[in-house]
Amino acid sequence: MSIYRKMLIFTSVIIIVPMAIILFLSNTILDNQINQSAEEYLKEAFVIANNLLSSRMEEMGRLSAGITESADFDRELQNRDKESIYGFLNNTCKVYSYIDFYALYDADKNLIINKPSIRNANAKRLGQLLAESEKSRDAVTSVESFDLEDLFGQGTADYLKFRVYVNDQHEYLKKCLTAVSVYAIRNREGNGVSGYLVMGAILNNSRYLPTAYSDSVPNSYLALSTEGIRVASNIASPESENYIGSPMPVSVTTLEGTNNVYFGKKNFGGEIHIYLDKMITNIDGEDVGTIGVGIPEQKFKLISNTQKRINFFVPLLFLIMILFLLRYVAEKITRPIIKATNLANQISQGNTDVAIGISTLADSNDESIILLRSLKKMADTLKKNKADILEYLKDLEDGREEQQHLSQQLIALNETLEKKVEIRTQDLREAIEGLKKSGQYKSQFLANMSHELRTPLSSIISYSEILKAELFGPLNGKQKKYTDNILESSEQLQQLINSILDTAKIDAGKMTLDIGNYTLSEVIRESLSIVEILAYKKNIDIQNNLLEEDIIVRIDFRKTKQALCNILSNAIKFTPDGGQIKITSSQIGSSIRIVIEDNGIGIKKEDQERIFNEFEQADNSYERQYEGTGLGLPLAKKFVEMQGGTIYLVSEINKGTKVAITLPININHGDFK
Ligand SMILES: Nc1ncnc2c1ncn2[C@@H]1O[C@H](COP(=O)(O)OP(=O)(O)OP(=O)(O)O)[C@@H](O)[C@H]1O
Ligand SMILES: [Mg+2]
Repeated sequence: MSIYRKMLIFTSVIIIVPMAIILFLSNTILDNQINQSAEEYLKEAFVIANNLLSSRMEEMGRLSAGITESADFDRELQNRDKESIYGFLNNTCKVYSYIDFYALYDADKNLIINKPSIRNANAKRLGQLLAESEKSRDAVTSVESFDLEDLFGQGTADYLKFRVYVNDQHEYLKKCLTAVSVYAIRNREGNGVSGYLVMGAILNNSRYLPTAYSDSVPNSYLALSTEGIRVASNIASPESENYIGSPMPVSVTTLEGTNNVYFGKKNFGGEIHIYLDKMITNIDGEDVGTIGVGIPEQKFKLISNTQKRINFFVPLLFLIMILFLLRYVAEKITRPIIKATNLANQISQGNTDVAIGISTLADSNDESIILLRSLKKMADTLKKNKADILEYLKDLEDGREEQQHLSQQLIALNETLEKKVEIRTQDLREAIEGLKKSGQYKSQFLANMSHELRTPLSSIISYSEILKAELFGPLNGKQKKYTDNILESSEQLQQLINSILDTAKIDAGKMTLDIGNYTLSEVIRESLSIVEILAYKKNIDIQNNLLEEDIIVRIDFRKTKQALCNILSNAIKFTPDGGQIKITSSQIGSSIRIVIEDNGIGIKKEDQERIFNEFEQADNSYERQYEGTGLGLPLAKKFVEMQGGTIYLVSEINKGTKVAITLPININHGDFK
């Protein structure tokens, strides 16, 4: 997708989405505002309608006061001069034609005159109003719902004039909505009431109020009702007659629950009206009817639709302008990029002789121009590099022959080297073979030699023992001593040979295990029995701390005993006369541990590891003082390790040595070799 398209889509999304949201919100707000302003408008219209009604009543009050205030009227009232009074009142009513009836009462509330001859029917309500007027210096005004028949008498001209036909009930309404003013006439001394003047304007079928309202609030409707039936209205339409005598859109009970005001919409003959109705109450606060104003909704819709159109078209225009602008900008941006793409294509095809207009290369901070300049630079560099490479290739070609010669020499050298390495490797292999063989020869020799030595040595020992036992006759002191020496030396020699033989056997891998069940105490005791004599000779005390409960161990008895003997004999050998040796045995998990501790000469730290190697002994002075070959400990180590055990040594010079061996309690045949 081209940059231009991308920018177009991106900008459209960026603009259209918020624009749609704003449009939706502004239309919603507009609708709300229209509703609100319609309500405000109706409230104001209602005040006008209400004022018209009030001012009508107040005017009647002012007229009553004006008429009765004159001295003439007072005198005529005193004299009950009905003719003159009629004259006064009729003149006034002629000027103020909306006054439909009046009545004059004396101080005792007896009717003096009335016109037209209103009947006594609503006497009770009138009586209440007369009484009310006494309390006020001004006229008392009230809207009342009088019984039409009781007021004028059935069939009279006024009755016929003011009656309202209720369309859907097919009969006439019995009530008439009436604006009344009652004025208490004060006597001239000012100390009492000399009579009462009542004036009334019937609102049923009245043209005055609706017309006055239409003049003040154009295109607005007014309706007055009593008993839920419209009795006066300015609604003019082909069916205008139907509005007077039609039921109110809202029942009076609905108004009672909503602060006596109802704001709503209603379809009148296909036209939606917004209207506001309010309860009319008389001076005692009793509901007598309603007064309502309304307007066709279309009036406000018109404003709203115009605004909505503006809301839609202005952003649309704006969007179109932006799109054009964008097209221009995108073209401006993409042109150098397209140029750069072409340039890059040419370069990629190997054409480094690219040319750009001089004006394009002029100094500019525009990124696309910078891109073009960079591409040109790159093309130049490539061109130069290409030339360098060609030159380099030529150099390479020149040096190739020499290189070939060198590489041949290298190959020859390499071959010589390989041959030499092969010969040396062969030599080494043979040397290793030789060494291996010589090791085997050594072991074999040692084994053979020891075996050869053991046979004559056994004979020497046997003969020495026979001599010592004096089986061939008694020996003298010297003979006895020599015989003892022979025996002792032979036994030592035998011991040495055995050790060498064992070592050789182990080295040759010919030593095998001979496992059997033994008690731990048995092994230690057997070992002790062999070395006891040596300890006895040096007056060394051996303390054997046996376990309370003896353990049965599966071990190679001879090898374990030999290992223990070697360690014990060392302890005795390297402990001065009168010293002490302690044997402790314990069970640690599935192993046993035997520790042999002496308080002898001890071993230097640096010798402690070395002495486990064959023929190694601690320093020379020991060697001189103590006999031995240095095979005891290495053999002990080998015997223990053959059985899967370990041996270790702790020693301090002049304090003593502690040697510990551990062995698994249950060694299986074949586990170790
Ligand atoms: N308990 C010990 N106290 C002090 N030195 C010891 C003790 N045990 C071993 N050594 C030192 O370790 C050396 C090696 O002991 P090892 O038993 O291998 O040889 P050896 O006793 O000298 O000769 P062999 O046991 O073959 O007769 C000894 O010569 C001695 O110097
Ligand atoms: Mg030893």
